[in-house]
Amino acid sequence: MSGHESTYVAKSRFAKFMDDRLPIARMMHGQFVDFPTPRNLNYMWTFGGILMFCLVTQLVTGIVLAMHYVPSAKDAFDSVEAIRRDVNYGWLIRNIHAVGASMFFLAVYLHIFRGLYYGSYKAPREVLWILGVFIYLAMMATAFLGYTLVWGQMSFWGATVITNFFSAIPVVGTKVTEWLWGGYAVTGVTLNRFFALHYLLPFVITGLVVLHIWALHVAGQNNPTGLDVKSKMDTLPMTPYAVMKDIFALAVFVTLFVWFVFFVPDYLGHADNYNEANALVTPPHIVPEWYFLPFYAILRAVPSKLGGVLLMFAAVAILAFVSWLDTSRVRSTKYRPIYRWFFWLFTFTCLALGYLGSKPAEGWYVVWSQIFTAYYFLHFLVVMPVVGLIETPKKLPRSIAESVLGANYGGGAGAMAGATAAPEKR
Ligand code: HEM
Repeated sequence: MSGHESTYVAKSRFAKFMDDRLPIARMMHGQFVDFPTPRNLNYMWTFGGILMFCLVTQLVTGIVLAMHYVPSAKDAFDSVEAIRRDVNYGWLIRNIHAVGASMFFLAVYLHIFRGLYYGSYKAPREVLWILGVFIYLAMMATAFLGYTLVWGQMSFWGATVITNFFSAIPVVGTKVTEWLWGGYAVTGVTLNRFFALHYLLPFVITGLVVLHIWALHVAGQNNPTGLDVKSKMDTLPMTPYAVMKDIFALAVFVTLFVWFVFFVPDYLGHADNYNEANALVTPPHIVPEWYFLPFYAILRAVPSKLGGVLLMFAAVAILAFVSWLDTSRVRSTKYRPIYRWFFWLFTFTCLALGYLGSKPAEGWYVVWSQIFTAYYFLHFLVVMPVVGLIETPKKLPRSIAESVLGANYGGGAGAMAGATAAPEKR
């Protein structure tokens, strides 16, 4: 992975035997124990680990659910009810999986906004970031497919609306949609293929995460100053420093997670989804899960179907280009007095779009959706390139170590001499 040398020492005879043949322990030690992490990482850097926890939780609970779930139009809804009522601890496993999807998105949004704020997408982390965008896309597809499996009213109508997007493609649209459905409407055939794909995609995500971590360990972690690591004083070994922080943050995250699971497991769902799918009754408002709402608002902001679909996909795709759209010399927004305001305006825009996506597409809701959609794209296409060019960044600390140890910290060779004492000062 990275150029960093592992300090692993094989102690037992078995460890030495393995180290000469398949040095997994050496690699793990080098990447996750003594890997040099910037010493100034804050709690926003704990969401990567939290996301790994979410991924494993969804995989484990999902596999158990699949043992009891029946992917047919006749039995799907009842099988989910049976899991909650009749399977031993089925209620718990199902609640963890359903709430887990929301927690996963909560964590990924914080992770993405952390990256946007601290400029973690800038060189040399472009590939790492783009892999993240692919992970996000795969997560969206997985969540959409999984929601369909419940075969409630919102599952069915949500699936109908989303798959219908493809019919907007000129000439071949109808054919593509029918091919997706496996017929002329969303039916049990569609459900069965969605189940197969919902099972497959998390493993694709796992593969992408491995590449994501690999790319991260080649480039090294960014940090709140956005400065590069210059000396050993700038870093600390990942274990125990970063790992202990990760464990504490995970404990707080899990507390919120279990609160939802045990006290309000249905809060994040939609009431209509507790009615079995019925192709003859359309719900008054078809709304997706909360984590898709900003994109739903963008979709409905455009009067033309094809235009709406294109803009919605563009809203995700544009993320892949931020490494080149942002022209700033410094990474971290902390040192960008003008851009900082735009960053928070962008965050507000995303929240506002989320709110608007939950409202009916009529009157002022549409007008505001159009205004915020316009700013969403302006932010990437105009604000990022232009502000980066005209802004004078604030004075940066001389090094990562200085940002933690204060202005009197000398840096350079003198500081290296104090390297052993430094960890106690934190
Ligand atoms: C399953 C989903 C994901 C997992 C498990 C994951 C995992 C991780 C981990 C463990 C780290 C290092 C710790 C940290 O910085 O928090 C990290 C860093 C990073 N991730 Fe992700 N990630 C995921 C999704 C994403 C997405 C969707 C994006 C962006 C679109 C993204 C962009 C980044 C970037 C830019 C970094 C480097 C951050 C820095 O050093 O400042 N990740 N990720």
